[in-house]
Amino acid sequence: MPTNTFIPTFTTGSVELRAAQAGRKPGRRTDEVVAASRLGDGIYELVVHDPYVARTVRPAQFVNLYSANATMVLPRPFGVAKVEGDDVTLIYQVVGAGTEEFSHFRAGDAVDVLGPLGKPFDLAKRANYILVGGGLGVPPLLLAAQALHGRADGSKVTSVFGYRDERFADDLVRPYADEVHSITNERGNVVDLLDSIEGEVSGAPLPPVILSCGPTPMMRAVAAWACQRGIPAQLSLEARMGCGYGACVACVVDTPQGRLKVCKDGPVFTTEQLGWGA
Ligand SMILES: Cc1cc2nc3c(=O)[nH]c(=O)nc-3n(C[C@H](O)[C@H](O)[C@H](O)COP(=O)(O)OP(=O)(O)OC[C@H]3O[C@@H](n4cnc5c(N)ncnc54)[C@H](O)[C@@H]3O)c2cc1C
Ligand code: FES
Repeated sequence: MPTNTFIPTFTTGSVELRAAQAGRKPGRRTDEVVAASRLGDGIYELVVHDPYVARTVRPAQFVNLYSANATMVLPRPFGVAKVEGDDVTLIYQVVGAGTEEFSHFRAGDAVDVLGPLGKPFDLAKRANYILVGGGLGVPPLLLAAQALHGRADGSKVTSVFGYRDERFADDLVRPYADEVHSITNERGNVVDLLDSIEGEVSGAPLPPVILSCGPTPMMRAVAAWACQRGIPAQLSLEARMGCGYGACVACVVDTPQGRLKVCKDGPVFTTEQLGWGA
C-alpha cells in the first residue's frame, strides 16, 4: 500500500494564488492533509489545505485527487463538500483501489490535487433551493447549502437526502439548511420524500429550484418529478472520468445537443440540456 507520507515541499499556497492573480489557472500541486476521519461505514472525510480551491471553488465543482501509486495513473474526482478558511473538505465512499488508498490518509500526509474543475450550480435566482441528494451525491449539495446560507436575498435551503442506512450528512447540512429531510432505503427513496413535502414546497412564497446529485436512476426520477410540476432542476452528473478537464472522451453523455463532456460541459446540466423529464 502506498504511504502518502509527508513531503516537505508543498507548492500549495502563494505560488497558486500568484498564478491565479496573473490570470493563469494553477496546475497539479501537492497539498497537505489537514485532517482525515471516518464518518460512517466505508465513508470518510478528508480535509486538505488548498487556498486556491478554498477561494475559488463553487458548488458542484470538483477536484482531482491523484494516487501515490504510480500504476494508478488516472485521478479520482470528488466534489468539494465544505470550505473553512483555506481548508477544503471532501467526503467519499470507499468503492475501489483509489478510495481505499485515500482512506489511509492521516494529518500531515501529502496528496496531489488539481482543480477546481467543471461548471458549478447556478445559484443566481432568489429561490427555495431544494437539495436532493442520494448516497455520496451529497457532498456538492453541502457546499451549495454553505454558499446559500444567510444570503442577503432571503433564499432558502431545504435538504432532501436519501441514504442507504446511516444518515451521515444530516448533521453536516443542518447548520446551513432551513429544513432538513432524509430517508433511508428501508423506508423509501427521495422521490417519496419529495412527494411528502410537495405541499410545503408549492405553498412557499419563494419559487422552488431543485439541485440534485446522486445515482443516475435517482436523478432521472427527480428530473421527471420536477418536470411534471414545472420546477427547474439542475443535475450534477457522475461519470467515470479520465483526465477530468476535457482532454479525453472518457466522460461523454448523450444529450439532445449531441455528446457533451461531463467534466467540462458539466458536471451540472439542466433537465432541458439532458432531455430528461416527464
Ligand atoms: C464530478 C464527480 C464528483 C464526484 N464526487 C464524489 C464525492 O464527493 N464523493 C464520492 O465518494 N465519490 C465521488 N465521485 C465518484 C468517485 O470519483 C469514484 O467513486 C472514485 O473515482 C472511485 O475510485 P476508486 O479507485 O476507489 O474506484 P475504481 O476502482 O475506479 O472503481 C470502483 C467502482 O466504482 C465505480 N466508479 C468509479 N468511478 C466512478 C464515477 N465517477 N462515478 C460512478 N461510479 C464510479 C466503478 O464503476 C467501479 O464499480 C465523484 C465523481 C464525479 C465524476
Ligand atoms: S474526463 Fe477526459 S474529457 Fe472528461
